[in-house]
Amino acid sequence: MGFRSIFVLAVLMGVRGSPTPGAASADVAAHSKMTPETAEETGQNLVLGVEDNVMATGELKPNHYPAQRAAKVVQHYLNTRYGSPYRLFGLQRVHSGNAEDVADSGRKYQLEISVQEIISNMTQKCSAEVFFPRGEKSLLAQVKASPCEELLNNDTKAQEEALYQQYKNNQSLLSAQYLPDSYGHIEPDMKPFWHLAIVASSSIMLNESTQDTLYNMAQVANITQLATENEQLKFQCHVLLHELVSQEILHWKLLFTWSPAGGVNVLEMEQLPHCHDCEKPPTTN
Ligand SMILES: *[C@@H]1O[C@H](CO)[C@@H](O)[C@H](O)[C@H]1NC(C)=O
Ligand SMILES: *[C@@H]1O[C@H](CO)[C@@H](O)[C@H](O)[C@H]1NC(C)=O
Ligand SMILES: *[C@@H]1O[C@H](CO)[C@@H](O)[C@H](O)[C@H]1NC(C)=O
Ligand SMILES: *[C@@H]1O[C@H](CO)[C@@H](O)[C@H](O)[C@H]1NC(C)=O
Ligand SMILES: *[C@@H]1O[C@H](CO)[C@@H](O)[C@H](O)[C@H]1NC(C)=O
Repeated sequence: MGFRSIFVLAVLMGVRGSPTPGAASADVAAHSKMTPETAEETGQNLVLGVEDNVMATGELKPNHYPAQRAAKVVQHYLNTRYGSPYRLFGLQRVHSGNAEDVADSGRKYQLEISVQEIISNMTQKCSAEVFFPRGEKSLLAQVKASPCEELLNNDTKAQEEALYQQYKNNQSLLSAQYLPDSYGHIEPDMKPFWHLAIVASSSIMLNESTQDTLYNMAQVANITQLATENEQLKFQCHVLLHELVSQEILHWKLLFTWSPAGGVNVLEMEQLPHCHDCEKPPTTN
């Protein structure tokens, strides 16, 4: 086992065993709630999923993968739209789900879920609809969610402004590695950047999601602040995403900006090549 596989394993264990009740543990909460038979069912879906008539249709079991995968897309969507260094959404639980084919155009999931705003620890029940268009991979899942927006009531503007001023006027540019570290720990002053990286990565996860995937943020390998441009803080970062169905760790490079007024904007995203042998957790079947 090479260094990299040990490292990735440590990352996964670190994230799962996170001693801090922060985003790291919340983001994998859905995973830990799943029952063993769920994984088996997913195996079947993975194999047979290309044939539409074997996809789960009608009422879905809330804790099983089909409902969880669709619900996870809602989390990525909310983070993409409303996320900030002080506002981060997590899927807390799926209450009910329903899936149906829509003529030849795709599949629609109707979900009742509880969404948590992780930083204020507020939870709200909302209804969501996720539509996965059939065909070209470039067609994104479409999400409607309401009234999850009530979770936005907590005003984070002052905190955001303070963070912005601190890093905008700082002579030295931020640079950090391994958020969280292999023990699941993140220094308090780095938490906003972990959240920012999750929000930026949500664009990737939303874009890459299909009804057969379940993406979680695993780790920020590194994040580097670049010179501020047009009043936007600018960051380059390298993130590790965990796709739970295939158990793959995917490496992406991201360039994004953030300001309280402008929000998070991803300028570039690039998936980096990965090697199968060194990145699959060895315990996976
Ligand atoms: C906003 O979030 C903070 C934690 O970040 C919490 O202490 C506070 O109670 C929340 N305010 C409201 C109005 O929910
Ligand atoms: C979040 O709130 C729930 C109750 O809604 C509580 O049980 C839990 O301990 C809280 N978690 C944190 C980290 O405060
Ligand atoms: C989403 O992915 C497609 C390729 O599948 C790419 O062309 C597009 O730029 C991506 N969009 C975003 C917002 O990343
Ligand atoms: C400037 O940045 C450094 C490193 O990120 C940090 O330790 C320091 O507190 C910052 N200074 C101010 C005035 O915020
Ligand atoms: C960031 O991490 C990746 C993966 O570990 C590494 O390949 C890259 O060189 C690192 N970049 C910086 C600037 O440290």
